[in-house]
Amino acid sequence: MLDLAGKHILLGLTGGVACYKSAELCRLLVKAGATVQVVMTEAAAQFITPVTMQALSGRPVYASQWDAREPNNMPHINLGREADAIVLAPASADFIARLVQGRSDELLSLLCLARPMERVALLVAPAMNREMWAHPATQRNLRQLDADGARVLGVGNGWQACGETGDGRMLEPAQLLEEIVAHFQPKALAGEHVVVTAGPTFEAMDPIRGITNHSSGKMGFAIARAAREAGARVTLVAGPVHQPTPRGVSRIDVLSAEQMLQAAQGAVQDATVFVATAAVADWRPADQSAHKIKKDGSGQPPVLRFVENPDILLAIARTPRAREGALFCVGFAAESENLVEHAKAKRERKGIPLLVGNIGPLTFGQDDNALLLVDAAGVRELPRAPKLQLARELVAEVAARLPRPRPAP
Ligand code: CTP
Repeated sequence: MLDLAGKHILLGLTGGVACYKSAELCRLLVKAGATVQVVMTEAAAQFITPVTMQALSGRPVYASQWDAREPNNMPHINLGREADAIVLAPASADFIARLVQGRSDELLSLLCLARPMERVALLVAPAMNREMWAHPATQRNLRQLDADGARVLGVGNGWQACGETGDGRMLEPAQLLEEIVAHFQPKALAGEHVVVTAGPTFEAMDPIRGITNHSSGKMGFAIARAAREAGARVTLVAGPVHQPTPRGVSRIDVLSAEQMLQAAQGAVQDATVFVATAAVADWRPADQSAHKIKKDGSGQPPVLRFVENPDILLAIARTPRAREGALFCVGFAAESENLVEHAKAKRERKGIPLLVGNIGPLTFGQDDNALLLVDAAGVRELPRAPKLQLARELVAEVAARLPRPRPAP
């Protein structure tokens, strides 16, 4: 799956030590299927050579507005017109100030000013020392840049080349790639608040042990990412999993089903879509020992009693907002046989408009899956594909089913 197939990115580098990360970003963009045209300022060329960027992009780098390679001698017009987006990475404090003022005395700022704004987005990845970042002048400029229609992608926090620690690092190349890919996805869920539960729950017996379910959380995390790409605000309630949080998603970590219920109930108060992908443990030990349960030497294992956990999806699907259609609930069913039958029955039982079925053992921990969508109208298959692609398809299906016009949250 090449997320940027057919896209042409103009990658602009300005002066900053983060230029070393732009080489990796260029590689990732090319690997994702994009063609990349690099444009560098004179200051950027102090940090990384055009030779490196040419080799990685497979195209000669532009650095001067007087570049005679363009037949009309107008690289500032031609390069911007060809691009699907301009990505400034790194964008220095000085360059941001120059953009805000509409300056245009060298090629990169000139082509940013000359870009057709309605068609060519300007994505800005700032990189600077933490004091420069925090300075009111920089913050004022960033607000103005945003108001002028650019998208500021934020910064990372951590160790800086100057030896200080704080905000202002350029985002990592993989994070920038995620933002650029997200930029090109259709905004089918703009204005929505989507809550997703993901991963297993862990039900403690004592401080050391407990019972849990099989679930990597990959499908739920992919849905959270796809919903955010589609323009939604996303809250992800995650059980114990080892998955990186998708960019721009608020994550609440929980362990047990009861904690997941509490977190989900809090998050759905103003949500418009709830997607329950979590593999919630159906039971939890009735008694939780305060200390580790020890072997008593008798050779007899302890007798455990269990009580049923709350059904999170059912509880939320029964709230007045869900019943009135203000909160659209989507359930998942992991089955091992008779998928269509079980999925239809489960949708009825949970009283939800859409249920997504899959064969559990074929998907646990995998990067791909096949889904079966069951709603009041019938059954539709989403054939085997990477989980992120399926998540995007599911997000489009959910968006198409939301009542229009949207009821007030
Ligand atoms: N679910 C939930 N809370 C639970 C159990 C399930 O929110 N305590 C949600 C899951 O996240 C999923 C859906 O309900 O979206 C289906 O869960 P599943 O365990 O497959 O179904 P059950 O209702 O438990 O039915 P059964 O165990 O009979 O298959």
